[in-house]
Amino acid sequence: MSESITSILEENRSFDPPQGHKGHIASMDDYYSLREQFDTDFDETWKVLAREHLHWNEPFGRVLDRSKAPFFSWFEGGKLNLSENCIDRHVEAGLGERTAIIWEAEGGEVRRISYRNLLADVCRAANALKELGIQAGDRVVIYMPMIPEAAIAMLACTRIGAVHSVVFGAFSPQALRDRIQDAEAKLIITADGGGRRGGTHALKPSVDEALQEECRSLKHVLIVRHAGNEVSWTNGRDIDWHEALKVQSDVCPPLAVDSEHPLFILYTSGSTGKPKGILHSTAGYLLWARLTMRWSFDFRADSDVFWCTADVGWITGHTYSIYGPLACGGTTVMYEGVPTFPDPGRLWKICADHGVTVFYTAPTAIRALIKAGDEWPQKHDLSRLRVLGTVGEPINPEAWMWYYNVIGKGRCPIVDTWWQTETGGHMIAPMPFATPTKPGSATMPLPGIDVAVVDEAGKQITEGGGLLVIRQPWPSMLRGVWGDDQRFVDTYWRKFDGQYYFAGDGARKDEDGYVWIMGRVDDVLNVSGHRLGTMEIESALVSHESVAEAAIVGRPDDIKGEAICAFVTLKCEATDGLVAELRAHVGKEIGAIAKPDEIRFSDSLPKTRSGKIMRRLLRDIAAGREITSDISTLEDQSVIKQLQRPSV
Ligand code: PRX
Repeated sequence: MSESITSILEENRSFDPPQGHKGHIASMDDYYSLREQFDTDFDETWKVLAREHLHWNEPFGRVLDRSKAPFFSWFEGGKLNLSENCIDRHVEAGLGERTAIIWEAEGGEVRRISYRNLLADVCRAANALKELGIQAGDRVVIYMPMIPEAAIAMLACTRIGAVHSVVFGAFSPQALRDRIQDAEAKLIITADGGGRRGGTHALKPSVDEALQEECRSLKHVLIVRHAGNEVSWTNGRDIDWHEALKVQSDVCPPLAVDSEHPLFILYTSGSTGKPKGILHSTAGYLLWARLTMRWSFDFRADSDVFWCTADVGWITGHTYSIYGPLACGGTTVMYEGVPTFPDPGRLWKICADHGVTVFYTAPTAIRALIKAGDEWPQKHDLSRLRVLGTVGEPINPEAWMWYYNVIGKGRCPIVDTWWQTETGGHMIAPMPFATPTKPGSATMPLPGIDVAVVDEAGKQITEGGGLLVIRQPWPSMLRGVWGDDQRFVDTYWRKFDGQYYFAGDGARKDEDGYVWIMGRVDDVLNVSGHRLGTMEIESALVSHESVAEAAIVGRPDDIKGEAICAFVTLKCEATDGLVAELRAHVGKEIGAIAKPDEIRFSDSLPKTRSGKIMRRLLRDIAAGREITSDISTLEDQSVIKQLQRPSV
């Protein structure tokens, strides 16, 4: 049994929530009393929430069936439709003219789509899908740029009970083909191309290439003409989206499906093996999308403008660009383009132009914007912002402070949300107008979510480092791995004998019960018998004024077991003595044990397109091994050469 993870980062700052606004969860008393309700009667509390927050065509009976654990099912016997919940019910409530989606193109074009128009578009698209033979339960792959049609396509699937699988638009033909084949999709909805960095990123040619090898299930390709790039056409298979929708009625009755009807599959790359098709189902997912919008972001549909910068190809884009805001009847922003185009002020300009009030992005974006300089946000009026969210990886305390001070001007709570593709929505996050925050901690679990830090034997750790688990099922939990029940059980449940959901992350609980995520457990280093989270050493490096970003990996070492290798990008040119200075800095911040043995500088770090640092690749590079990782999702391939240069 390995010892618990040693936590070494000392972060003592704490920030009280802003005063003078009553949040949906208004105080810590509110928060604890809601948690207590779940403790007292778990099923009853979920029942009341599900009845209040969703529109049901037929009421559900039993709340939670645990008899086939870990295959749980929720809200038995209930029937509902997701698109009806996200659109029709707001139109029926008289909100048809409210803006559902504000879309901005990189070139500056803006489209505003009201709930009424969204309903008409979704109905036309749903009717077109039906005409193409798509039925409830059929899988539809969506491979699109960030345009409203992506949302319309997703909602149209849900309207007729089809299961969508969105594939990120920058994925290769091979990755696309794997997913089409695994999901046995009947239809792909795509576009000619999307706008990127002032040019066009073609999509349709990738679809053509993917389909060069047989995808037996696939019958049609529906293509949105958007970027205007020329595309080849396979008659009989390829269909023009606008032509197909034009002739359809704008009325399509929503199909009421069972609570557990499959809603979507979203593939995540595991650290090994082929991608896993994470399966989500209808009612539980939708309920949690709506509740977390309200609890974690204090979202107000009548006055907020919400912007989650994630692409719809990721779970964050599913839950917080589309389904969460629409389930609440609010306004969501979609931006098609690069965040730094034409200059690093673009995100802030969009916030100012559309009066964004709740902004949600990833630490990797924040660090890139810090590097660009404070003058960019200062050029724009960010006074309407009131809540700032972050997701995707641990946020270094210094990046947190910048977000808080420079973007939020000390007025906006920082909501660091820990969750996963598998969890469907937030699991750990502060309640913005109740929870005191600490830079770098996602704070405490959401009400209803039973998170614990445990040791290898599953014993709870009340203070200290260990493994993050979830001990009770929750409505938006994954329902399985598409086509591979065994993998679902093995990956998430086997470690703790089916008792707990194992998230794969290391975490520490502090004396106040706050959770500090320490990164994936497979990223943990073992230096002279101490298990060190990579995150803390990275944060120590990032707190040095010259450092923009850092990634820590272990390299085999005869004496220490593992040596610490740091890959660093700088805000300025490297100077003589900087390596020594950085090592000393880490020594001062954390202690001698954490001083990197080697530091390599480069202009950027290898990341997946979702912004996650590719640590396996860095481990190979640090060890001087041949690169065995799959680098097909690497954003910038040229970075590898630079990193392979021996240390300074
Ligand atoms: O390691 C955790 C990290 O991202 C993983 C989940 O990745 P994915 O399924 O791609 O979903 C990302 C968006 C929900 C987690 O296991 N992670 C996510 N959010 C945080 C985080 N690590 C630390 N702090 C977070 N707020």
